[in-house]
Amino acid sequence: MAITKRTFDVVVVGAGGAGMRAALQLSQAGLKVAVLSKVFPTRSHTVAAQGGIAASLGNVKEDNWLWHMYDTVKGSDYLGDQDAIEYMCRAAPEVVYELEHFGMPFDRLDNGKIYQRPFGGHMQDYGKAPVDRACAAADRTGHALLHTLYQQNVQANTNFFVEWMALDLIRDEDGDVLGVVAMEIETSEVMILHARATLFATGGAGRIFAASTNAYINTGDGLGMAARAGIPLEDMEFFQFHPTGVYGAGVLITEGVRGEGGYLVNKDGERFMPRYAPTAKDLASRDVVSRAMATEIKEGRGCGPKGDHVLLKLDHLGDDVIRHRLPGIRDIALKFAHVDPAHAPIPVVPTAHYMMGGIPTNYHGQVVAPHRTAPEDVVQGFYAVGECACVSVHGANRLGCNSLLDLIVFGRAAGRQIIEDLKLNPHHKPLPADATDRPLARLARLENQKQGERVAAVGADMRNVMQTHCGVFRFPDLLSAGVDKIREVAERAKNTVINDQSKVFNTARVEALELDNLIEVAQATMIAAAAREESRGAHARDDFPERDDKKWLKHSLFYSEGQRLDYKPVRLKPLTVESFPLKARVY
Ligand code: FUM
Repeated sequence: MAITKRTFDVVVVGAGGAGMRAALQLSQAGLKVAVLSKVFPTRSHTVAAQGGIAASLGNVKEDNWLWHMYDTVKGSDYLGDQDAIEYMCRAAPEVVYELEHFGMPFDRLDNGKIYQRPFGGHMQDYGKAPVDRACAAADRTGHALLHTLYQQNVQANTNFFVEWMALDLIRDEDGDVLGVVAMEIETSEVMILHARATLFATGGAGRIFAASTNAYINTGDGLGMAARAGIPLEDMEFFQFHPTGVYGAGVLITEGVRGEGGYLVNKDGERFMPRYAPTAKDLASRDVVSRAMATEIKEGRGCGPKGDHVLLKLDHLGDDVIRHRLPGIRDIALKFAHVDPAHAPIPVVPTAHYMMGGIPTNYHGQVVAPHRTAPEDVVQGFYAVGECACVSVHGANRLGCNSLLDLIVFGRAAGRQIIEDLKLNPHHKPLPADATDRPLARLARLENQKQGERVAAVGADMRNVMQTHCGVFRFPDLLSAGVDKIREVAERAKNTVINDQSKVFNTARVEALELDNLIEVAQATMIAAAAREESRGAHARDDFPERDDKKWLKHSLFYSEGQRLDYKPVRLKPLTVESFPLKARVY
């Protein structure tokens, strides 16, 4: 079969905030940039981000980037790399003002400055009191951001490949990355995108869990492709559960609700968070709040006939705040929980939300992995940013609103790095002869398989195994059984059959290809979680309830081939300031 080849300076996979911020930088520099997206760009999952983007503008209360840095290091439970965290928190005000100048419609204070609200774990003066650090466009900040970046990219002549799915990376015998093989979803046409630089911005993989705030497109595609190409995945055991997913539906209710003064109550109507976090209360970091909710439920103080959720109360905020600051939340509560939050509390449960781990990178967005002869080296031509990357600024637990920030800071940083790197590499390296072998074999397997299980059935089992065996609290027996079960599911995924042979939208084929990626992520998550014998951030082990800095202050690296784990040190030294020393984490 003849396969079309197209040549670009840079191929960006993913059109969320990170991919579009990088693409903008690159297109504005005059490079020929292709952005591939499974969905129309403004439907990428960044559109669902609600509460805000963190930056120490100090528009409401005094703030500075060092306090932001301290909060992020502490929020990460000291697993975050302090050089990258310094880089991100320092750059935050500048990138937010850049967005403002790109035309992003932030809400305004009466004095015309950008509106800011408090968010979990963001504090003044090294943890003393909550600070208003989330720069918000009502409760639709991601929507405003994504549309702004899309419009800027259209103006900058970025080439969009809409409803195209990247299938696999192309690596040559030196291990350098030379582009991707991709498939058009509607037609199944396969194409080589040959590039001098390849940037993954493919987002998260929340769809490994049964209950998730994530869109259906969040299937860990970048991680799957990286894993199949021999790149390890870092810190995959750390998966964040957002405290307030709508009970029974999973849809996100922004932490901005608590930022505006909402709070959680148990079945006795008790505001319980002050018992767990006396200073930050409902604005403690997410892992702390999610564990508190799970404990209330476990100890019999949950709400409803099954006692399996708690309530988020915001009726006291008044119609004006709900209408102006939280309009989307009112819609979501009405549609998915059938309550009007101006009059009744919203039933909520901790829900899988964000993957702290990912493809290992430095703060320039370069992928860093054992390579050639060096144990840690830059993989030439390969970059990753956003949720699919592990820089690592979030360590064992991400703070709310640091995600949009991460996308923009490191999207821009990667764009800048690629521009410099391409000056040194003006020519495309030749493609290897086997460039399309792996993706074509995957497609041929699906085409030829006549009998087997349905993709949906295997996917559902994977999600249930992850939900039951790798949740907010993790138990040794469940983890070790979970490892066996997820391996069994992975074996079954090799023999799925797609019974929808319709070529119209190719949904069955796409779901099968996505399942390959989800399975890589699910196995990495379960195996790394079973191995880490401590509790840190979002990884809470019943049998090892304490953080163990002596043995476990290190990043994990999971290799798909051989399902092997390795570890590497945390970078405790910031770029210019003193390190924040390890201490007990209380809110
Ligand atoms: O709660 C939220 O609005 C989510 C924000 C985030 O995940 O950063």
